[in-house]
Amino acid sequence: MPVPTNTNANASNQPPLTLTVIGAAGGIGQSLSLLLKTSNYPTTRPVNVNLFDVNTTGLNGVATDLSHMNTQANVKACHSLQDAVTDADLIVIVAGVPRKPGMTRDDLFNINAGIIKNIATNIRQYSRNLDTSLFTLLISNPVNSLLPVLNNVLPSHAHSRCLGITNLDLIRASEFLSELLDTQEKQNIPVIGGHSGNTIVPCFSYSKDYAKLSKDQIDSLIHRVQYGGDEVVQAKNGQGSATLSMAFAAFKVIQLLVPLVLKKIDYVEGAFYLELQNDILGSVKLRNLLNEPELNYFAAPCKINYTGTYLIDYSIINGLNQFEKDVLLPKAIDELKGNAQKGERY
Ligand code: LMR
Repeated sequence: MPVPTNTNANASNQPPLTLTVIGAAGGIGQSLSLLLKTSNYPTTRPVNVNLFDVNTTGLNGVATDLSHMNTQANVKACHSLQDAVTDADLIVIVAGVPRKPGMTRDDLFNINAGIIKNIATNIRQYSRNLDTSLFTLLISNPVNSLLPVLNNVLPSHAHSRCLGITNLDLIRASEFLSELLDTQEKQNIPVIGGHSGNTIVPCFSYSKDYAKLSKDQIDSLIHRVQYGGDEVVQAKNGQGSATLSMAFAAFKVIQLLVPLVLKKIDYVEGAFYLELQNDILGSVKLRNLLNEPELNYFAAPCKINYTGTYLIDYSIINGLNQFEKDVLLPKAIDELKGNAQKGERY
């Protein structure tokens, strides 16, 4: 059976932009691969979307199906992680097992940590761009513990380009608020902390409509964002967790990063879960503000250039209201530290 490889000739001999999806035959992977195949990219360079999955039949099916679409990007089914990661400029990891009703994200740790470690080992061994420019985006759960697993394998100078994706929490906060206010307007609501339950700290005090909301409405909004993933898991009733909205959230992040990877812009601003390294501006200040010198991982708005995250916007903490600062944040930090240690020890 023919397996798609790059079909468009590279007439200009320009180096391709290569985006790799690991876990491409799964629920998130298929939707994300479709979005990447159908997207327009601001470049004349060839665009390759490398697909990898351990489910070879699924992989071949998805790649063949997508390859019939007359769009800018070429898809390629990669039959080894080595092939998938070697030339990648950006890797997005969606591989792993999803939750079933009654499970927490943490229940996935043992199985998914092994998968992430193997992927990270292949990235370390084969990626040509790891030391200079490779961006690695982690979606697999539990993100709070698995980013440390990934970073443990990869060299520390690459960590500021290893980002845990929390964008779905920001999207949910925006959408749930809009639904409650019964408006078409979608406000940007900062969400900080991590990506599970109490570690998700939606900062609705940043909404211009905050004063209009009752305490009950605010509490239920916060709870809905913190447990939005469970809402989908319950609705799917054993058939997995969020795939379509997660693919959308990941795609938005990739769309943001592609112009940076192409060096068309100098930096981007976004919110990510990442390692607080001392050489990232704002890391020390953030830890001091939180009075948490040992906090190693946190999700916050940040600025990223080609070489990685260079500024964490700690000022977000100063703008929180008393409830967010004194109730939500301490609960989040307590769990975050344990989650990160679990991954660091793995
Ligand atoms: C989500 O937030 O929907 C995802 O992290 C999937 C999950 O397990 O909840």
